[in-house]
Amino acid sequence: MKSKIEKLKSEMLTVLKKADSHDTVRDLEIKYLGRKGLFVDIMKSLKDLSDEDKRTVGKLANETKTELEVAVQKRYAELEMAELGEIAEKEWLDVTVPGKKPLIGHRHLISKFMDDLEVIFAKMGFAVAGGPDIETEHYCFNQLNIPPDHPARDMQDTFWIKNLKDTVLRTQTSPVQIRYMESHEPPVRIIAMGRTFRKDSDATHSPMFHQLEGLMVDENVSMANLKAVMTHVLQQIFEDPSIKTRFRISYFPFVEPGMEVDCTCPICHGDGKISDGTPCRLCKQCGWLEIAGAGMVHPQVLENVGYDSKKYTGFAFGLGLDRMVMIKYRINHLRLFFENDLRFIRQF
Ligand code: PHE
Repeated sequence: MKSKIEKLKSEMLTVLKKADSHDTVRDLEIKYLGRKGLFVDIMKSLKDLSDEDKRTVGKLANETKTELEVAVQKRYAELEMAELGEIAEKEWLDVTVPGKKPLIGHRHLISKFMDDLEVIFAKMGFAVAGGPDIETEHYCFNQLNIPPDHPARDMQDTFWIKNLKDTVLRTQTSPVQIRYMESHEPPVRIIAMGRTFRKDSDATHSPMFHQLEGLMVDENVSMANLKAVMTHVLQQIFEDPSIKTRFRISYFPFVEPGMEVDCTCPICHGDGKISDGTPCRLCKQCGWLEIAGAGMVHPQVLENVGYDSKKYTGFAFGLGLDRMVMIKYRINHLRLFFENDLRFIRQF
């Protein structure tokens, strides 16, 4: 009887050691120690033994059963540890790896430039106005003295919006002049900055570019005021008080007289060559840069918005911002503005 118990014990311990899943251990537990298990059979057969043997063998049987129950629990625990180990191996995490920083972008140089311009103009009492990128022909052309058959429309290769009658991507910021004057009485002193669009695309022209429009209307506004404002603004932009401006006669239908504004080249300071004598490449040795269109607001434009052109006069100008940013920050290709490469943008 004793040897039967020992045999059952060693047999169970051997298979238990090999049991490699929870279910197999459970099956063994039922097979050997369950209510109808092999151990119960032994217990049952105790009754046939002498009293003396009943005590010793019974004791052994009980001890062995407890021993085996402990072994089963141990096996369960071992399997669980192995499972956890496997998970830890598969799903391990290096908590010392630095976290991922959220990618924060950077203000685009053109936006920064616009902010700076706002400050420069605000100090001279100019408010900021705005208008839509998609304009009506009425504001972009008609009200600015550019009727449908006017050749000046060809000067600005317009993007017309399909299926939306009389609608264009604004070719200039000048329509903001009209929008503002229609809803405000003089005195007017505003700038408007933003995107403009023309069917133009080469190394120095992009179909989308940025303009700054300036407008001042009041009693007794003269070209001297225009000259003073333009000169001051350009000196501020290039941070160079030696910058001079000159006006050359030109034509824009919404101003009279109209002019191109040039400023002395901020690289060679008007000399045409840089300090070591090499020719200035920016101004192509002429010492001047063409920087803006400008003029005195055409009386007809003032009348179009209901202003008394006998009482009020005004000036307007339009600056191309992209080229100015390129000059100021010595950027050699327009492409850099559109690539949005953070390595470039973060430099400013
Ligand atoms: N709107 C003109 C252009 O885009 C520039 C301009 C503005 C000229 C204001 C005169 C007065 O070419």
